[in-house]
Amino acid sequence: MKPREVFQTIRLRSRPRDRRARILASCHDVGDVRRQAQRALPRSVFDYVEGGADEETTTRRNVAAFRSWQFQPRPLVDVSIVDPTTTLLGVTLPMPMVLAPTGYTRMMHPDGEVAVARAAASRQLPYTLSTVATTSVEDVAAAMTQVSASSQLWMQLYLFRDREQSWRLLERAWKNGVRVLEFSVDTAVAGFRVRDQRNGFTIPPSLSPATVLDMGMHPRYWVSMVQAPALTFANFTSDDGESTIAGITSQFDSALSWQDIRAVRERWRGSLAIKGPVPPDVARRARDEGVDLLHLSNHGGRQLDRCVPPVETITGVRAAVGDLPIVVDSGVRHGMDIAIAVALGADAVAIGRPYLYGLAAAGEEGVAHVIDLLAAQFARTMQLLGVTSVAELRDAGPSLIERVRT
Ligand code: FNR
Repeated sequence: MKPREVFQTIRLRSRPRDRRARILASCHDVGDVRRQAQRALPRSVFDYVEGGADEETTTRRNVAAFRSWQFQPRPLVDVSIVDPTTTLLGVTLPMPMVLAPTGYTRMMHPDGEVAVARAAASRQLPYTLSTVATTSVEDVAAAMTQVSASSQLWMQLYLFRDREQSWRLLERAWKNGVRVLEFSVDTAVAGFRVRDQRNGFTIPPSLSPATVLDMGMHPRYWVSMVQAPALTFANFTSDDGESTIAGITSQFDSALSWQDIRAVRERWRGSLAIKGPVPPDVARRARDEGVDLLHLSNHGGRQLDRCVPPVETITGVRAAVGDLPIVVDSGVRHGMDIAIAVALGADAVAIGRPYLYGLAAAGEEGVAHVIDLLAAQFARTMQLLGVTSVAELRDAGPSLIERVRT
């Protein structure tokens, strides 16, 4: 090799100049992205994302539950072309996945909800805006439409005791093109997150000796936060400027009942989903009350600890509700998890922490990178399993997976 050729090879192999590109080039799975998020964020903010309620048993078991299944692939099937697309609530998605609502997203990165929404829109996946978002539904809808005219913004609802606040939010969401409303039914009271208590964590992060110490360790984070607009709840007005998670949650109604499902159903003209750890009989009743989609979720283990992992409930709920669309979340970390959820009878999965890791690590590009990793993993899993479509994966599901024998 001539010296010039050697030089060219070295140049080709050199690391990307752009910091974000460099970070993402080193991320080959969600675990890698998680480690980058941990480096980028102050400990208390990372813990807010990562933590679960009480002993965090649910959070751990959510992830473990997906790994308690193993594949029985079908060889000798032509998988040169596989089709990972699917249809959810009448809309074609490039893969069976949506982005779940996460509150206070601008705390993880100054671009916050807009970055997540833009990444979702660029990949034609729905993004669900949280009631406790730090960007208004108007701004998020505009940002998504800018990326793609066919983008899908969903909205998550915590019902306020002050119902007028909730009804105003529904109107704003509808006006801004939201057609799917996810009503969270698992937050009667705030889950107790021990990490946040130990860290003295507040929303927004407050100045304590620990914060000051942390500034030296995460200067990029703190500089970006100081330069960004103040963190506020952008979709409702807080009663008394409350800043603790428990304080905000106390504005939500802990006396939710079927009557409220009916009230929301009457007011909301679009598709209605309920989001929570729903057992089969509740799922059937929800369907009978006019709910269009079940989002099986234990909030990523952030509410009730020792709560059944939603992936374990898919089969029972599917048997109870027939064809009603089922989305499942809590613990999805790999495209293989998506395949398992579909094989068990779900229509799609949702992700929470994985895209927040991407956001913290590298903003919008980080979220897109996480989506791309999961999409590639899912398509490859289909190929190695020997299925060519999502419908086939669903239909043949029971013969393609089995419990890990211990
Ligand atoms: C959440 N989740 C959540 N859910 C909801 O209905 N409204 C919300 O405002 C929030 N906020 C929120 C913040 C953070 C930091 C996390 C990690 C999660 C729960 C979320 O929608 C989803 O159910 C879980 O994140 C899914 O579990 P994984 O993917 O995080 O394991």
